[in-house]
Amino acid sequence: MPEIPAGPALRAFARALPKVELHVHLVGSASLPTVRALARRRPEAGVPTEERALAEFFTFRDFDHFLTVYFAVTSLVRDRHDVHTLVAGLAADLAAQNCRYAEVTVTPYNHLLDGMPGDDLLAGLESGRARAAELGVELAWCFDIPGEKGTKAGAETLVFALRERPEGLVSFGLGGPELGVGRARFAPFFTRAREAGLHSVPHAGETTGPATIWSALHDLGAERIGHGTSCAGDPALLEHLAAHRIPLEVCPTSNVRTGQVASVAAHPVRRMLDHGVVVTLNTDDPPMFGATLTGEYVAVAEALGLTAAELARLAENAVDASFLGDAPKNLLRREIRQMTLPGTGNFV
Ligand code: ADE
Ligand code: ZN
Repeated sequence: MPEIPAGPALRAFARALPKVELHVHLVGSASLPTVRALARRRPEAGVPTEERALAEFFTFRDFDHFLTVYFAVTSLVRDRHDVHTLVAGLAADLAAQNCRYAEVTVTPYNHLLDGMPGDDLLAGLESGRARAAELGVELAWCFDIPGEKGTKAGAETLVFALRERPEGLVSFGLGGPELGVGRARFAPFFTRAREAGLHSVPHAGETTGPATIWSALHDLGAERIGHGTSCAGDPALLEHLAAHRIPLEVCPTSNVRTGQVASVAAHPVRRMLDHGVVVTLNTDDPPMFGATLTGEYVAVAEALGLTAAELARLAENAVDASFLGDAPKNLLRREIRQMTLPGTGNFV
C-alpha cells in the first residue's frame, strides 16, 4: 500500500475515513463562537468574548494553566440549553468529519457544583444526543471524576451515574491533574462502577510517569487508558499493554499544546505502534487545542510517514477499542477496509 502523498490527498483520505472518537470532553468541545456567546452572558467568568483575545486565552503555558482555563469555560455552562448547544455543536463538527460514533466525557460533579440541577444536565445530554442521531452520529457518555476534587467527587459522580444511568452511558473515568492525585484512592468507585457494568477509562500517564498507568490498570481495572503518553518510557508496560490489548486514547495535539511533548513528530506514538500497542487517535478538547479529529490523523500520518493502510488501521483500532456492539463495529470495519482496496483510488 503506497504512502499517501502529503497535502490535499492525505487530508481528503483522512476526512473520508469513517472515524470514531474515544476521548473528547464535552466542555472542551465547545466551538470558539459558542464559547464567545456563552462568555458574553457571563462576563464575571473572565473568558474573553473577542476572537483574538480568546485565541490568546487558549494559549497554554502548561497543564495547570490549561486546567484553570478549562474550569473557567466549564463555569459558563449554566442550563440544559447550554448543554444541548454543546452536544449538538460537537455532533455537527463530528458529522462534518465523517466521525460516526463518539464516547464523550462529561463531568457531572463540576456542573452540579456550579449549581446546575442534575435534571438539566441530563435533559441537555439527551436532547443533544437525539440531535446527533439525526446528523448520523451516535454518541455515548463517559461520566468522569474530576480528580482534583478528591474522593467526595468520586462518591458523588458514582451515585449520579448509577442513579441516573442515562441512555448511552457506557463508561466511568477520572480526569484532571495527575500530580498529587494518585489513581488508587479512587479504586472503590471504579470497583462499584465496573460491578454495575460501566467500563473503566481513566486518564493516566498524561502528565506523570508510567507508575500512574500501572496504578490505573491494577487499582482501577482500566480497560483503556486516557493518553498513556509516558508508557513509552517503560518497556515492560509497553509489552503489557500490547499483550493485553489495552488501547491508548492518544491525543497528540493536546499533548503538544499542554507542553507534554515538543511536537507531534516528537510524540512517542511511533514507539507505541512499534511495540504493538493498540493506538487510537483523539482530540481531547478540540477547539481549545486548535485540533480536529481529521487533523490528528493527518498530523500523525505526516509525522510518521504512514501508508493509507496504516492510517486506516488506526481508524479501525478506534472501532475495535470502542464500546459499540459487534454489529455496528463490523459495519464500520467493512467501510474502513473498502477505503484501501487496491484500485479504489481513494487516496490519490
Ligand atoms: N479535562 C479536560 N481535558 C483534560 C485533560 N487533557 N486531562 C485531564 N483532564 C481533562
Ligand atoms: Zn482528556
